[in-house]
Amino acid sequence: MNIKLNLIAILALAGCLNAGAQSANEISINLKKAGAPVQSTMYGIFFEDINFAADGGLYAELVKNRSFEFPFALQGWKAFGAVEIKDDGPFERCPHYARLSDPGHAHKQTGLDNDGFFGIGVKAGQEYRFSVWARVPEGGSGAIRVELANPASAEEVHYICQETLAVSGAEWKKYEFTIVPSVTDPKATLRIFLEQPRATVDLEHVSLMSADALEGVYRADLAQALADLHPGIFRFPGGCIVEGTDLATRYNWKNSVGPAENRPINENRWEYTFPHRFYPDYFQSYGLGFYEFFRLSEIIGSEPLPIVSCGLACQFQNDSPDAHVPVSELQPYVQDALDLIEFANGGTDTKWGAIRAEMGHPAPFNLKYIGVGNEQWDQLYPDHLKPFVEAIRAAHPEIKIVGSSGPDSEGEQFDFLWPEMKKLGADLVDEHFYRPYDWFLSQGARYDGYDRKGPKVFAGEYACHAKGKKWNHFYASLLEAAFMTGLERNADVVHMATYAPLFAHVEGWQWRPDLIWYDNLNSYRTVSWHVQQLYGQYRGQNVLPLTMDGKPVCGAEGQNGLFASAVKDGDLIYVKVVNTSSEPQELSLNFTGLKKKDSVKAVKAVRLCSDKLYEDNSLEAPCNIVPAECPFSGEGTALKAEIGAYCFTIFVLTR
Ligand code: AHR
Repeated sequence: MNIKLNLIAILALAGCLNAGAQSANEISINLKKAGAPVQSTMYGIFFEDINFAADGGLYAELVKNRSFEFPFALQGWKAFGAVEIKDDGPFERCPHYARLSDPGHAHKQTGLDNDGFFGIGVKAGQEYRFSVWARVPEGGSGAIRVELANPASAEEVHYICQETLAVSGAEWKKYEFTIVPSVTDPKATLRIFLEQPRATVDLEHVSLMSADALEGVYRADLAQALADLHPGIFRFPGGCIVEGTDLATRYNWKNSVGPAENRPINENRWEYTFPHRFYPDYFQSYGLGFYEFFRLSEIIGSEPLPIVSCGLACQFQNDSPDAHVPVSELQPYVQDALDLIEFANGGTDTKWGAIRAEMGHPAPFNLKYIGVGNEQWDQLYPDHLKPFVEAIRAAHPEIKIVGSSGPDSEGEQFDFLWPEMKKLGADLVDEHFYRPYDWFLSQGARYDGYDRKGPKVFAGEYACHAKGKKWNHFYASLLEAAFMTGLERNADVVHMATYAPLFAHVEGWQWRPDLIWYDNLNSYRTVSWHVQQLYGQYRGQNVLPLTMDGKPVCGAEGQNGLFASAVKDGDLIYVKVVNTSSEPQELSLNFTGLKKKDSVKAVKAVRLCSDKLYEDNSLEAPCNIVPAECPFSGEGTALKAEIGAYCFTIFVLTR
């Protein structure tokens, strides 16, 4: 450290430092010239309906199988008395409905119970909107009684609320009312009785949603957790969901738009994927469909990145070539991609633009990216991708195309697919890595040697997994933070990165770790969420070259387990340092490239540290491990700092 240049070099992290730091690590940050821009899309989110992320999660619907469209029409329901399922209802693509008739004796009852998703969570004093399409098929009038109850409750209050609804006429009509529970219950049951007069009543699309749902669609706390990330890119709807268990169950975006009542359900492929996490009642209502995804992108300020099927069924689950669409028959799939672009961006005078407008959004969604295929491999993938690239380029040269490097972070398929993506001229290549500690520790320099002239990188799915048992814990998140310094240092080639998966219901997960967990009433943000949030909040505009002994700080030998990167944001400088070692470390932050007499001034430090390596936040302790701002003062060109053991710190400075 040059003491003469050092005007005042005091970094006071009172209460934030661990004692006993090792000898100084001289980190040099060059302020002379701003480096590559950090794309606004750099840190984002990837939504997939896994772990009950849509129905039972972000989608605010509390009724399971609300339209009686599951293959077993009463799955999710308990029927009693005289209940029949009919299939000539008012919604062409969801034709089923329930007919409730007189049970034949004054003391008997006809009706239906719905348990929702692991129960129906309701809060005392909160308004809930109940709605149903109903009719009296013979004409005249009938009635139903709607209750929220907890038959299993040990509490005195068994009935949470009750409301009687008069139904009249042989025409289908939508009925709605608001109920306000008097007690909070995470596992209520929705019960519908046929009431006096016991005229036969038909019910279709039975819905219950909290009135605080964002735009009547998105569960409020979960939508807020996304908005608070300030994500720059929003990839949806999967993942393997795009591919389905087979082609018949791939995500068909066209089924996910238009009136919610008329969206046919789809089997959720995660129902079957892991026999030990089997949920036979896991379906996609498509209530959270492509319109809702585009709209959510807009609300949270991120660029939408829809992924479409490339005509290949999930290759993990389908060995036979017959499972896939032959390239010669791909045209309808290619057309789906073109129509999707029209749905997002087309004028209201176009077929799909008009559907978007009818749904409430005449203005285009300004789509800029489209992904084709997910984790595909072998020659099959480039062969299938090619017609999409040709058609999209011809019709929409403005749209950037995201291709895939397959399911592996390296190896035969990865090495085969990257050059293929280059040949096809993909704009970005999606890489996936769910990898263990040692991989994350060794990949700090992963992108340093990437071809700067080829496609850009989209790190589309990643998370650090412990070997064997996989779960959310601080140490894994710390290694993600360390790895992300390498994304940031290479922002010229890495343009997007999204952790995965995003959501998980504590009672319905198939895959761990995940970014945000919830039950029916509450949610919490994991340490990985905080890592993502900090990177998003301190994204900056341009990379600043940062080295130690002339080398990038990427956890290499002789670097004391340190990873580091720096960006500038106007006059602000954010230096991110991750100490993956068990020892506190002294740092010297040396700023070069300044004009004579210029200096930098410390503003604050933000620190995410813990010695509880294998713990995370939880529903019971949502703030067990969260970032803290620490006092940080000093001015000069060489600032001394310390970073605790197992610690991610962002040093914020200004010029
Ligand atoms: O995120 C879970 C799954 O992991 C995704 O669906 C898939 O793309 C990957 O294998």
